[in-house]
Amino acid sequence: MSKPKIYISKAIPEPALAYLEQHCECRMWNGQGAASRQGLLAELHDVEGLLTTGGPINRELLDHAHKLRAVSSISVGYNHFDLEAMKARRVIGTNTPHVLDETVADLVLSLMLSAARRIPELDSFVKQGRWQRGKGLTDEYFFGMDVHHQTLGIIGMGRIGEAIAKRAVDGFGMSLLYHNRSRKPETEERFGARYCGLDELLRESDFVVMMTPLTPETERMIRLEHFEMMKPTAFFINASRGKTVDEPALIQALQTGLIRGAGLDVFDPEPPSLDNPLLHMPNVVTLPHIGSATAKTRLDMAMLAARNLVAALTGGHPPNVVPE
Ligand code: DGY
Repeated sequence: MSKPKIYISKAIPEPALAYLEQHCECRMWNGQGAASRQGLLAELHDVEGLLTTGGPINRELLDHAHKLRAVSSISVGYNHFDLEAMKARRVIGTNTPHVLDETVADLVLSLMLSAARRIPELDSFVKQGRWQRGKGLTDEYFFGMDVHHQTLGIIGMGRIGEAIAKRAVDGFGMSLLYHNRSRKPETEERFGARYCGLDELLRESDFVVMMTPLTPETERMIRLEHFEMMKPTAFFINASRGKTVDEPALIQALQTGLIRGAGLDVFDPEPPSLDNPLLHMPNVVTLPHIGSATAKTRLDMAMLAARNLVAALTGGHPPNVVPE
């Protein structure tokens, strides 16, 4: 039996490619980053499977891919899938949950600590030679905010939220509030977490962490009226998707002191333009969407995505079909 043809739109680690090559006839984009949209569309006419890291899987793409049966994304988020269009064409979509939970949780704690203790700002201070003997600034100049024993509010208590909760509660002695589609009694018991409405969470938290997936319901879920509810000493952390927040409102909240600072791994759009005010505020820590970016985790994600695609194309049952 001939092997199914697949296209891989971004270079992947060797073990994942080797696995795919055992089961499929592979073509892979080998340039920098991911294949351009036009380049991708031109490759799809004869493929049954697509391994991707992002970019819309929509009607336009499906119109170029009449043989397509499965799209496997190397990501836990699948907001780039037009699920309705895929269902209409009987195209299966899969994602890579679980394997990145701890790595993303590490990054969220890094953003909280970096923003609260002003790590990037004070790192630049030292490197620019502004820390000089005899020209001492007051102690207060260097003060940040504590993370330990503060109140953390997590919006979107999935697996990554729980990995953040473990670090925050067990390691930092934080109190935990959460807001989620549904209550999670086990999480409440394990972490002493309190389920609350969005407004209450925003009013009471010292750190608000956005971890909700991007869906039509969560798009621009946090707007100016929500920042107005937050403490002026609070930090807003986003490691989900930029579009879950009204970004101009976030900018306004930071510019007018409605909140103290932010830690952002995601933007709307990505990358942000150089004149985006968020890139010029000392109280905002910015990262280039690196939540899952460690070599081990990206390898684990690529292997899982490869297994999902092979299972979908060879009659097996892929473990991570979306929606869950
Ligand atoms: C994910 O896996 O969804 C991360 O945000 C990387 O895109």
